[in-house]
Amino acid sequence: MKFTTPATTNPIDQMKIIGRPVDRVDGPMKASGSAPYAHEQHAAAPNAAYGYMLGAAIAKGRIGSMNIDEAQRAPGVISIVTAANAGKLGKGNFNTAKLLGGPAIQHYHQAVSLVVAETFEQARSASQLIRVKYIKEKGAFDLAKAKPSATKPKDKDADTEAGDFAGAFAASPVTLDAHYTTPDQSHAMMEPHASIASWEGDKLTVWTSNQMIDWSKGDLAKTLGIPKENVRLVSPFIGGGFGGKLFLRSEALLASLGARVAKRPVKVALPRPLMFNNTTHRPATIQRIRIGATRDGKITAMGHESWSGDLPGGGPENAVQQTRLLYAGAGRMTATRLAVLDLPEGNAMRAPGEAPGLMALEIAMDEMAEKLKIDPVTFRILNDTKVDPEHPDRRFSQRRLIDCMRIGAERFGWNTRKTEPGTNRDGQWLVGMGVASAFRNNLVMTSAARVRLDRNGVVTVETDMTDIGTGSYTIIAQTAAEMMGVPLEKVVVRLGDSSFPVSAGSGGQWGANSSTAGVYAACIKLREAVAQKLGFNATDAEFVDGSVRSGGNSAPLGKAAEAGELVAEDTMEYGDLDKKFQQSTFGAHFVEVGVDMATGETRIRRMLAVCAAGRILNPKSARSQVIGAMTMGAGAALMEELVVDKRSGFFVNHDLASYEVPVHSDIPHQDVIFLDETDPMSSPMKAKGVGELGICGVGAAIANAIYNATGVRVREYPITLDKLL
Ligand code: MOS
Repeated sequence: MKFTTPATTNPIDQMKIIGRPVDRVDGPMKASGSAPYAHEQHAAAPNAAYGYMLGAAIAKGRIGSMNIDEAQRAPGVISIVTAANAGKLGKGNFNTAKLLGGPAIQHYHQAVSLVVAETFEQARSASQLIRVKYIKEKGAFDLAKAKPSATKPKDKDADTEAGDFAGAFAASPVTLDAHYTTPDQSHAMMEPHASIASWEGDKLTVWTSNQMIDWSKGDLAKTLGIPKENVRLVSPFIGGGFGGKLFLRSEALLASLGARVAKRPVKVALPRPLMFNNTTHRPATIQRIRIGATRDGKITAMGHESWSGDLPGGGPENAVQQTRLLYAGAGRMTATRLAVLDLPEGNAMRAPGEAPGLMALEIAMDEMAEKLKIDPVTFRILNDTKVDPEHPDRRFSQRRLIDCMRIGAERFGWNTRKTEPGTNRDGQWLVGMGVASAFRNNLVMTSAARVRLDRNGVVTVETDMTDIGTGSYTIIAQTAAEMMGVPLEKVVVRLGDSSFPVSAGSGGQWGANSSTAGVYAACIKLREAVAQKLGFNATDAEFVDGSVRSGGNSAPLGKAAEAGELVAEDTMEYGDLDKKFQQSTFGAHFVEVGVDMATGETRIRRMLAVCAAGRILNPKSARSQVIGAMTMGAGAALMEELVVDKRSGFFVNHDLASYEVPVHSDIPHQDVIFLDETDPMSSPMKAKGVGELGICGVGAAIANAIYNATGVRVREYPITLDKLL
């Protein structure tokens, strides 16, 4: 099915099951520990041996020699994989550095070997007996130092210009020109990267933890140099990804290589201390923002430049993306620059681009509002735009930033905020409020699904879509139930297997809308097949309460499958509606903080997010996404930072004791409001994404609240207490 014109009324609009805050259909399995995660697929791969990965001890250089003899003789050792014995390996489309390093070493903790042994302990212990002599080379590890050497990346929209930025900025009576920095951050998801690989002849099956099944199946085949159809990836349950599991990673490749030589299944989990340097991370940025405005607060010039670094061949953090679309203003420029750094590979982390971009832009907006003596909510409303400001003939399909701001301000009690910073005291606490806009683009992705109907009226959905903890199982079940007119209990959802039709996967907050749209397409086909089997007219057949009705006749749905299961498969593909109309999601974040006058410690007291993100398929799982993202934004504002050892080139704090993320006691009760919205341009589901919108802007709202509380403007994240004293 091709989606080319705005969606009209369709069965989804009944909203009998879609749009309801139903509990997760996988909840009982998760809560009882019976949902199998990659490392727990014992039944699938009995007799699995254990692989233990060794990470490079230098950031850049070569392996001079590697002696594995002693390790080879250690108890229980079956085989040892290294670049020297693994044979020729290709490189996947989505990987920058090699997943198995050697002799060249591209980054610290790049995998250099996998010891396969009977037990985990034997593999780990033997791994310590491998003797590697490294020849170090000088690397670049300091973004600030590398900044002057940064170049324009190849992407065609690395830079944009509209109107006359320089002229407008020079002529503006009120201006801001400030630099902001965001640090390297780690996804730090709960479940480490883990895979079990098993060969049967030349066919490979990998039980893994991966957001994008088809991308990674392709990259695994490409890296191993085998046909894609010989690879099967299975990833039904995932303990978080945040972008860290978008791609094939080392543990899946090494498990596959290990299983090939060991001639039995091999399981590999990345130990937590390897994750921070072996896998990808969100790159640090240096950002310069220039804003010019008239005295009455109309933005006339908007300039945003961003610098980040990555390994040779890598890409930039697109931190200027939102600035192209968020506020009005005739003179505009954005620029993206990329430096070569020999730190571990940078890549997507939840709301890549917008998350760090808004951390800077939305402080800058607060600073401008203050210079203009205009309330920060009013200043944002004043500069709203209904069109893409770089391309004024392009409208937004939906844009309710102003509603988000107004509703949020009212609900939060924004009118009680003290304009003068540092003037609101509660005992030892300085109290302040901050606001920020939230913005994240809405991407649509081709997505396929298969639906089966049996004689009992049970509908089974199969798609390689993943559920990374987001609720995909539930919204897909709701979609099929709504479309086929059956209760939720009559739907079975099977996900995360590359033998199912190729879905959008989980990334870029496109998963919910795109994957359910694929299920919608398959269900439309199944409805037609059912009507035909029952001799009904497909166009007027109604699917209600487990029955099909048409022209005064009625039959139980299962009757259509009496003679055998009915199967339908389809793909939702997109025309260029998303090019004709700018599709984005909007929100407003409000935060109240207290800052301890003696210690400088910040405590968040209240948080509210108002989101305009199309139809909300399930308010309960959507709220979970948003409060999780707000929590991640609190981490970004106050604690998260991969500390770079600028001499040796690695992230020093590589565990969860020293890479701090928020815990329950850091986060107060959180409120989320969803505006009642449908977007007929996004898909027949009329939904969009919220999983990444929720993190966008929170950090700046916290920074702005800290400023309002203390009068101290911090432009370098994270805002740790030393920066406030
Ligand atoms: Mo997301 S960073 O595309 O998982």
